[in-house]
Amino acid sequence: MVKICCIGAGYVGGPTMAVIALKCPNISVAVVDISVSRIQAWNSDQLPIYEPGLEEVVKKCRGNNLFFSTDVEKHVSEADIIFVSVNTPTKTQGLGAGKAADLTYWESAARMIADVSKSDKIVVEKSTVPVKTAEAIEKILTHNAKGINFQILSNPEFLAEGTAISDLYNPDRVLIGGRETPEGKKAIQALKDVYAHWVPVDRIICTNLWSAELSKLAANAFLAQRISSVNAMSALCEATGADVSQVSHAVGMDSRIGPKFLNASVGFGGSCFQKDILNLIYICECNGLPEVANYWKQVIKVNDYQKTRFVNRLVSSMFNTVSGKKIAILGFAFKKDTGDTRETPAIDVCKGLLGDKAMLSIYDPQVPEEQIMRDLSMNKYEWDHPIHLQPMSPSAVKQVKVTWDAYEATKDSHGICILTEWDEFRNLDYKRIYDNMQKPAFVFDGRNVVDMEKLRQIGFIVYSIGKPLDAWLKDMPAMA
Ligand code: UDX
Ligand code: UDX
Ligand code: ADP
Repeated sequence: MVKICCIGAGYVGGPTMAVIALKCPNISVAVVDISVSRIQAWNSDQLPIYEPGLEEVVKKCRGNNLFFSTDVEKHVSEADIIFVSVNTPTKTQGLGAGKAADLTYWESAARMIADVSKSDKIVVEKSTVPVKTAEAIEKILTHNAKGINFQILSNPEFLAEGTAISDLYNPDRVLIGGRETPEGKKAIQALKDVYAHWVPVDRIICTNLWSAELSKLAANAFLAQRISSVNAMSALCEATGADVSQVSHAVGMDSRIGPKFLNASVGFGGSCFQKDILNLIYICECNGLPEVANYWKQVIKVNDYQKTRFVNRLVSSMFNTVSGKKIAILGFAFKKDTGDTRETPAIDVCKGLLGDKAMLSIYDPQVPEEQIMRDLSMNKYEWDHPIHLQPMSPSAVKQVKVTWDAYEATKDSHGICILTEWDEFRNLDYKRIYDNMQKPAFVFDGRNVVDMEKLRQIGFIVYSIGKPLDAWLKDMPAMA
């Protein structure tokens, strides 16, 4: 029986290994992590991440050919194929701070693999890493190898959160990069055989190591760039009276452009886009390509601009002050169908409003209070580092309340911000909400989920990203 071990039981490692176990009953899969609480959660009825369909897969395989364990060394030493799916945060200190990937966790995983291995291993990079990480890992492994052969592969994961299970069942492609030596080719084939249990072979593409590593950064950069492009257009739409949804539709019908990923929003979030682009920028700078670096920097700048623009629009519409006003925040996760809040635009929007002394009442169907409070107390880039907690200032704590109901959150508020496109926000009883709010009652829809006309008829003043403005908003132009 082939044995797989995955180091890192996170958003990528957990679901990916669960699906490999489901699709390959002849393979034994162990997912290991240094976090005892995470492993306990994977072994319980309350999985550590919310992902539609995941629970069913885990329940089917757990204890049969899928195991979650903290005994990292045992499972690594027994495995034939080791996936490394540990976190690669942005460095907060030292060389490349704020841009470069922090490979501390990767390096310690590699040293541990070299330490405990007694047989040949295929080591697979699963987490996104800077180009040429494989080379560094290869060096660590071979210099500590004790006669054992290590083959390094890059097999970046393209799943998106909220749709992880269906993305894994039916991937657009599986990408495997490896050395072009006979041993390298053999390792590529071994990993290909795993995926071939359920992925059509023409969708499994093989490249050299560097192309595979770079393709992952490039794919995320292109996707984020599309969102920044449409978000930049949304500002122009508001200024001119065009409607961004109509523009996206018309543009996306060009088969060379395509219709997906053109939804204007308050900004993109998630653990990957910003981090990977910062990484790309850093690599370009290190390779003497400042023009290329500056090109990609602009994608992040527009994303930051979009969040600031949203806060400015809100404050200026509400007579230039939100001090002491209750603002309801509907949605805190970075997208719907996930409880993940890493880099969610809600953090920046909330911090902007708190800076203007607003009183926030936050509701998200999947994000617990503790997580929201922690997110609002962290500095940029600290979320992926284990030691980062600093208590929120007592005055900020007083400004934030987390509720478990959209009606409770909006009661007596002056304005509502919709920051995640949860389906339930489309179907709320907005008449009931309006009746219980202060007047004039505002809705700022950062995800274009509400029916603007219907809400205007109820009496709301409505702002939606990239849509023609209410007369009210035209009279109160957003300040730069
Ligand atoms: C373009 C638009 O495609 C068309 O829809 C619009 O109506 C007019 O402008 P055109 O300029 O005739 O059409 O040619 P196009 O095929 O778009 O190519 C434009 C330039 O981009 C060419 O120099 C082409 O060589 C270059 N190009 C195109 C690339 O360098 N790489 C590509 O992948 C595609
Ligand atoms: C992304 C990539 O899609 C995935 O391939 C990669 O493996 C990891 O990074 P993820 O971050 O989970 O996945 O979610 P994604 O669906 O890409 O959304 C990212 C952000 O962009 C979200 O905040 C989302 O709301 C936003 N978004 C997406 C838009 O604002 N508009 C869109 O049209 C699409
Ligand atoms: P991703 O979104 O890429 O899956 P996560 O942060 O969700 O990232 O998961 C990474 C996991 O890797 C964390 O649960 C962390 O505890 C684990 N991890 C980090 N370093 C090691 C290590 N050396 N050995 C085992 N697990 C590790």
